Amino acid sequence: MKITEDIIYAGVNDHQIDLFEGQYEVPLGMAYNSYVIMDEKIAVTDTVDAHFTGEWLENVRQILNGREPSYLIVHHMEPDHSAGVRMFLEAYPQAVLVMSQPAWNMFIQFFPECAGAEKLIVKEGSELSLGKHELVFYTAAMVHWPEVIMSYDKKDKVLFSADAFGKFGANDVEDPEGWDCEARRYYFGIVGKYGMQVQNVLKKLANLDVEHICSLHGPVLNEDLGHYIGLYQTWSSYEPEDDGVFIAYASVYGNTEKAAYLLKQKLEERGMTNIKIADLAREDFYENIENAFRYKRLVLASVTYDTDCFPVMRKLIEQLVHRNYQKRTVGLIENGTWGPMAAKVMKGLLEPCKELNILEPVVTIRSTLNEASTAKLDELADALLK
Ligand code: FEO
Repeated sequence: MKITEDIIYAGVNDHQIDLFEGQYEVPLGMAYNSYVIMDEKIAVTDTVDAHFTGEWLENVRQILNGREPSYLIVHHMEPDHSAGVRMFLEAYPQAVLVMSQPAWNMFIQFFPECAGAEKLIVKEGSELSLGKHELVFYTAAMVHWPEVIMSYDKKDKVLFSADAFGKFGANDVEDPEGWDCEARRYYFGIVGKYGMQVQNVLKKLANLDVEHICSLHGPVLNEDLGHYIGLYQTWSSYEPEDDGVFIAYASVYGNTEKAAYLLKQKLEERGMTNIKIADLAREDFYENIENAFRYKRLVLASVTYDTDCFPVMRKLIEQLVHRNYQKRTVGLIENGTWGPMAAKVMKGLLEPCKELNILEPVVTIRSTLNEASTAKLDELADALLK
């Protein structure tokens, strides 16, 4: 697949994977992208996951069509992209590795036997000429590891963006939800904590004239780039993307669930139709993380359990706090048969978050909804829409 006249796709699709990075469900598989820049000197960008290095090397061999590559550019040392470096060097021993100094330090930890490999260390603003194509390098620390670099091909206006602008899902299956959903789940799962670093990179890239974004995962982005860059702006600045409500509930016998659905109904009666509701114990965990960041308002409804909120609720809040959750309106519903505690615990867990508006009233249910707690749900619905 040609991206431009000289830039050719060499990546692979993974439909064997159960969990990406050991924790993310990827029902549509995963793509590990690699590209070949054909010029007087040839550069290959990144390798792929260990299970696919043979297939990838064969792709590269076919693209090279008998020619020898001069460089292997390593934008990111995480093994989903660097597992094939040794095999590449065995096949093309004359090739020079191009990477940042921190990447080199990681490289010799992963591949101590390759410590003698020829290398070209690049830093912010370094340039590499392949002939017609001139690459400029940008450091992108913590997007998603500290050693990451991006590169920009001035001739074809291509940004090699490392993990940024990546998504879950292989490239040979159509994602029924389009790009945004699985890119958002990928972003908030993997880079959500590093909004400030993403902002820094976006600032650096703002003046580049980019026509194609070649990420390490997911499709090459060729048009409407403002849409994707705009989403990255929103996500990395922790602004809500959607003016709706996410109701996340943890219920044991269905009474808290009933309250969550009744609140949804009350919001709908008041004209709010953009509502996502999820049973935290059953919905994909990172789908919940994604939705908490996506919507402007979040309602947390939990049973009290061992003088705590329910374990999946605690995990959700802790992982939101870990990812710098902020700038949202939050409503709380708790249930407790003898000593309701969940709301106090949830409030406490959310304390480190900046710019949270935690609404009154907190709705307390004693075992099942009654007239008084139903009236409080009405008040909460009003407060959410104020
Ligand atoms: Fe796709 Fe951070 O590795």
